[in-house]
Amino acid sequence: MKFFKVITYGCQMNLHESEKLAGILSSKGYFPTEDNEQADIIVFNTCCIRENAEQHALGNLGALKYLKKKKPSLIIAMGGCMTQQPGVMEKIKESYPFVDIIFGTHNLDFFGDYLDERLAKKKRVFKVFETDGKIYEGTKVLRTSYPNAWVNIMQGCNNFCTYCIVPYVRGRERSRQPEFIFSEVQKLVLMGYKEITLLGQNVNSYGKDLEGDINFAKLITMLKEVRGNFRLRFMTNHPKDLTEDLVKAVADNPHCAHLIHLPVQAGSDRILKLMNRRYTSQDYINKVELIRKYMPDCAITTDIMVGFPTETEEDFCDTLNLVKKVGFSSAFTFVYSRRKGTVADKMDDQVPEDVKKDRIMRLVDLCNEQTREYSSNYLGKTITVLCEDFDKKKQMYMGRDEYGRMGYFECENNAIGEFCKIKVTSANGISLFGELVDDENQQ
Ligand code: SAH
Ligand code: SF4
Ligand code: F3S
Repeated sequence: MKFFKVITYGCQMNLHESEKLAGILSSKGYFPTEDNEQADIIVFNTCCIRENAEQHALGNLGALKYLKKKKPSLIIAMGGCMTQQPGVMEKIKESYPFVDIIFGTHNLDFFGDYLDERLAKKKRVFKVFETDGKIYEGTKVLRTSYPNAWVNIMQGCNNFCTYCIVPYVRGRERSRQPEFIFSEVQKLVLMGYKEITLLGQNVNSYGKDLEGDINFAKLITMLKEVRGNFRLRFMTNHPKDLTEDLVKAVADNPHCAHLIHLPVQAGSDRILKLMNRRYTSQDYINKVELIRKYMPDCAITTDIMVGFPTETEEDFCDTLNLVKKVGFSSAFTFVYSRRKGTVADKMDDQVPEDVKKDRIMRLVDLCNEQTREYSSNYLGKTITVLCEDFDKKKQMYMGRDEYGRMGYFECENNAIGEFCKIKVTSANGISLFGELVDDENQQ
């Protein structure tokens, strides 16, 4: 038997692409393993959104040198956003001579061919292309996250936020045809998947590049017709493209979870402008109000960054104030990281590391406080969670409610893949603990 291991470093889209790499490898007769020593092929699916993501991958790659010496037949491949950056392929080629295959984000679907080439010719294979090309349909996917499944609806990004590397390594926005998306979602639901997450860097600009009468709101309305009991999620939304039609379509589709991930990034209008986000903090608040008008119960989550070039204490306080005003159910917080090739990298007045550190700590404190408050509202309530795993440490099943909150509970039977009702008895930060109320498994 031959084994493979795919290591993922990035976002959900990156994770989903690892499922495609796994699908390609399994169709070539390889079986998955978690053990480096057992693997005949190890694929690094990299990310370059922040410097630490790159360092992490390179550290793990370096550590494989000894393994390759011990087992020269081991194939080591590297792909993803990091290798798609200009000059990175050449650097890895030289500094890591034990890497057999390097590929980029635009040609991941052809990884099987590159593996064949490597095995046939015993020569290293380097394939990173600049052109982003079209979307390929039909690549096999080996899903790893039952009962949840990801469905990619588009590639690339056109926004060019000045801090962000994604548009450079993912190319321009390209949407999948709606019929392909509909049939993939319907098939997954028939196969027993209970939560489907539509993925794109900017899902709410879906369809702008397609001919015909289609946009993201219309896609959501189309997906209302999918038969079965499942939850529909989508991410990520850009505030500038969040329309009233979309909010209405979500509110009107009973499959849709009432959770919207709406990255705000900063609360200062000056910084938002420098980031090229194309909204003000007031525009953002208006979007939040729009969501709450149609879905008063809707949870709103966000991404926030501190330490963007020129950020002053006053700008940072605008961010804190916006967080207080909106009341996020949870927030992902980041320290700005310089990315080569982006506009912000060339800006003067980069914020010193100790100032960034101080700000992120204050921001995290505030967000944690909000999260705790949000969780405490759950006490005594009965919620429906989709059980997704068993936590071995806690010896409890775990699952999220439609608002994204994780609930832990005990159950005698295997509950994975079932909608379970639990009564919340305690809360700890972002986690809820409860008791199973009944096992009718109905949402
Ligand atoms: N397309 C999505 C996701 C982008 S990456 C979106 O627009 O939200 C996820 C998050 O990483 C971003 O929302 C941003 O907060 C953060 N991020 C992006 N570039 C970064 C950088 N250079 N330094 C620090 N955080 C960054
Ligand atoms: Fe990056 Fe902005 Fe595109 Fe998101 S919308 S991927 S933050 S450029
Ligand atoms: Fe990273 Fe690429 Fe995703 S840079 S965050 S893996 S799109």
